[in-house]
Amino acid sequence: MDAPPLIRTLTATDATAYRALRLQALRDHPEAFGASHEDEAARSLEMTAKRLNDGPLNCVFGAFSGDELIGTAGFVVPDRSAKSRHKGLLVGVHVAPERRGQGLARALVSAVIAHARAHVVLLQAAVGVDNAPALRLYESLGFRRYGLEDKALRVDGVFIDEALIVLYFAGDT
Ligand SMILES: CC(C)(COP(=O)(O)OP(=O)(O)OC[C@H]1O[C@@H](n2cnc3c(N)ncnc32)[C@H](O)[C@@H]1OP(=O)(O)O)[C@@H](O)C(=O)NCCC(=O)NCCS
Repeated sequence: MDAPPLIRTLTATDATAYRALRLQALRDHPEAFGASHEDEAARSLEMTAKRLNDGPLNCVFGAFSGDELIGTAGFVVPDRSAKSRHKGLLVGVHVAPERRGQGLARALVSAVIAHARAHVVLLQAAVGVDNAPALRLYESLGFRRYGLEDKALRVDGVFIDEALIVLYFAGDT
């Protein structure tokens, strides 16, 4: 029997695998991510490695099957100024197509939540309003909707509205 997937934070040594999976995600699901394939492809491997070496306020969790990276979920505190550093953002949730439906995204996002709980008061995310799998996942983990960003993204001339969702950690609601 195969060993269960391992979830751990990525380091600079994972940069090549992370970049490949991320480029696949951006190519296959441009409507699901704020970054574009073009922008990511233009980033050097060194820049990617640097992002993976930026500490607990900007990190990526990966799911591995053996040595193979098969899914990711990221955590970032976008604004570290005194009045905003209590807010974290869940980003870059993606599972390789052939590995979906096995609980990997749930495990990855749960890992981000456990990590975020130690660093911020609330965790926000933005999800395309038509992305039912992601919305269902996040809502099952306790996120709730607090807003809607009309025309949040424009992908090949098509506007995507995003649901704004948030998870408050105990005692801080
Ligand atoms: C969304 C995504 C990350 C889910 O990954 P996954 O590993 O297949 O998800 P899981 O197996 O952990 O499923 C967790 C929950 O998500 C929801 N879900 C997953 N796939 C679903 C689907 N096809 N339809 C409806 N709900 C779905 C369910 O609530 C599921 O819980 P359940 O199995 O108890 O019903 C994956 O489909 C993906 O990578 N999509 C493309 C990128 C993307 O949209 N990322 C999110 C950006 S905000």
